[in-house]
Amino acid sequence: MNTSISINFDRSSSAYDIEIAAGALSNIGEWASSALGGKIGKLALITNRKVDRLYGERVSESFVSAGFDVRTFHVGDGERFKSLKTFEKVISFLSTSQIKRTDAVVALGGGVVGDLAGFAASIYMRGIPFLQIPTTLLSMIDSSVGGKTGVNTAFGKNLVGSFYQPAGVMIDPLTLETLPRRELTAGFCEAIKHGAISGYDLFNNVNDFLMAQPIGRFGKGFVVSGELQSLIAKQVQFKAYIVSGDERESIVNDSASSRKILNFGHTLAHALENATGYKYLKHGEAVGYGVLFAASLSKKLDLINKSELQLLNDVVHRAGILPPIRHLNPSEVLEPLKQDKKIVNDSLQWILLSGIGNPVIVPHADIPKSVLVSSLDELIHHQ
Ligand SMILES: NC(=O)c1ccc[n+]([C@@H]2O[C@H](COP(=O)([O-])OP(=O)(O)OC[C@H]3O[C@@H](n4cnc5c(N)ncnc54)[C@H](O)[C@@H]3O)[C@@H](O)[C@H]2O)c1
Ligand SMILES: [Zn+2]
Repeated sequence: MNTSISINFDRSSSAYDIEIAAGALSNIGEWASSALGGKIGKLALITNRKVDRLYGERVSESFVSAGFDVRTFHVGDGERFKSLKTFEKVISFLSTSQIKRTDAVVALGGGVVGDLAGFAASIYMRGIPFLQIPTTLLSMIDSSVGGKTGVNTAFGKNLVGSFYQPAGVMIDPLTLETLPRRELTAGFCEAIKHGAISGYDLFNNVNDFLMAQPIGRFGKGFVVSGELQSLIAKQVQFKAYIVSGDERESIVNDSASSRKILNFGHTLAHALENATGYKYLKHGEAVGYGVLFAASLSKKLDLINKSELQLLNDVVHRAGILPPIRHLNPSEVLEPLKQDKKIVNDSLQWILLSGIGNPVIVPHADIPKSVLVSSLDELIHHQ
């Protein structure tokens, strides 16, 4: 089952296809050549050692058969390598490999590799063509769609970056068969986020898929089914729909189709990642907690009813076990949000729900501090 989703942006000339095809890696050279408009030059393949060991040979061989000259660079594995320091190394690799504007950067890996390689492609020689080959569930349904690139700095996550659209994205779902259990859980948490803000169609699709998984899900021998491939396609379609209407996340757009709604679950997720040093929780796991928290706030503010709250809680738990956060102090976790508030001119916003598929943007100032602290206290101690 192959799917191709076209993404077109309102006010820009960038349009590209996101393709989903099981086994696509073996023919990736042909796809790259067509996505790059038939131009064959050098490809700077940015990946990490683990992904390279699993898929690098297959990908490089196919590139070479299609006539490309491939140079590979390994990024360290983990969020801490999505940094300015690694970025500088990538830029010097591109220079020493004599990559020119007629060549291209290819990201092979998860969101860390994709965000970093995309950022490098966006500013090296003021922008050279970029291809994405996401290999984690999270990067397939979320980070590879929409053109946000960037790195973390000591002052904040994704603080430096750009909007830069790739020339094409190829998703080979079969790569998920080697993905560790926690990474699958993390990806499903982002899928739940999309479901919760999109509506019952997408929400039930994720929920039903998770319900059909065996207990102790995603163990060894995880098989990528047709259902999972169609789930990925629906997820990509939804994200593409939102980002194509609001390519650069307009600050003044507070509508229910603003790109901001994709931050559902993310205000707390970022605070938790920050409180745990970006090491303890995977990004998607933090989003899992963020979804639970946003659901609880929505209930406390009488935006959703008890059964909707239960539904949201159940689906997150079906995605897998989230690492315990009992060691965290609620007030300390929420403390940096005060600072965020100053940075964005008192306009820190929470994305909550007034029902599945009805995201609402609520100013931080409208939520009593006691409600935030008590909700977080419950989340921390009752999971
Ligand atoms: N740009 C965006 O719009 C956007 C959206 C969401 C998240 N993000 C970013 O994405 C990043 C998280 O991405 P991620 O969850 O993919 O994490 P990741 O890139 O760290 O990958 C997770 C782990 O899986 C391994 N891996 C990758 N593919 C594999 C495979 N097929 N088999 C076995 N192991 C594999 C990696 O080596 C890594 O250890 C964060 O930095 C987050 O900020 C960006
Ligand atoms: Zn996210």
